Amino acid sequence: MSGGLLAGRTAVVTGGSSGIGLASARLLATEGATVTIAGRSEQRLAAAAEELGPGTRWIATDLSSAAGAARLAAALREHGTTAIDILFANAGASNAPELFDTTEETFDQVIDTNLKSTFFTVLECAGLLADHASVILTASVGYHNGRIGDPLYNAAKAGVRALGRGFAAQPEFLQRSIRVNTVSFGAVATPMTGAGAPEYEAALQEWAETEVPLRRWAEPVEAAGAVLFLAGPHSTYLTGAEIPVDGGLVQL
Ligand SMILES: NC(=O)c1ccc[n+]([C@@H]2O[C@H](COP(=O)([O-])OP(=O)(O)OC[C@H]3O[C@@H](n4cnc5c(N)ncnc54)[C@H](OP(=O)(O)O)[C@@H]3O)[C@@H](O)[C@H]2O)c1
Repeated sequence: MSGGLLAGRTAVVTGGSSGIGLASARLLATEGATVTIAGRSEQRLAAAAEELGPGTRWIATDLSSAAGAARLAAALREHGTTAIDILFANAGASNAPELFDTTEETFDQVIDTNLKSTFFTVLECAGLLADHASVILTASVGYHNGRIGDPLYNAAKAGVRALGRGFAAQPEFLQRSIRVNTVSFGAVATPMTGAGAPEYEAALQEWAETEVPLRRWAEPVEAAGAVLFLAGPHSTYLTGAEIPVDGGLVQL
């Protein structure tokens, strides 16, 4: 596509093979961006890239380690990427065990998958960011109260939100008009939240009707809308901000 809000822009979407990341990659590509998606499963990435269309690249890497994030940046350079305009650091998983069953190993897994991955994705890609780039981080509204989600997962996402402020404040970014914002999602129907699994359908619907003021789960494209806003030309005075996309779950 030659026109569109993001024509000529280069976007990198981690966790772009599924759910919110895939829907965001689709919207960014529809608006003209050239998109690279990243995740662990080659199979899922290849299928997503095929769906997203020609020009979409994919990079398989486990972002839960600094080395995995370094592989992402190295592969981007190998593919000839010299300037990233949109970096959506979105990879993550709700992989916390039952709270009182947490071991040091599972603690590290949750923090590494959600917080360390975000930190090193931004750090490793920082040298590739174009002037005026938009960096978008994925957090969760779960950290705003104690009742929704897992405490450890929410702590990791609260850390992501803190990274969003801290990265945004860096003089290196401010001098080059590189903006860093966070989107905190609530209840988005994706594989991570059990969407499409018949055994969970009734319970998920009942939960949303009871707990979510808008009385339903968001479609992934509704999450992607906030990402497009932050990626595009209508949010150029926003940095360090957080947009909750949660149907009112913890805002009301
Ligand atoms: N859905 C919600 O209601 C909700 C609410 C709040 C926050 N979030 C956050 O939104 C983000 C996207 O979640 P989703 O709901 O779209 O889930 P999803 O459909 O399961 O997608 C997760 C994506 O992240 C990738 N990923 C997971 N672990 C990774 C790792 N270690 N290294 C590289 N890639 C990894 C997955 O690919 P592979 O498995 O192949 O690696 C997949 O592409 C996550 O950070 C999640 O915590 C979601």
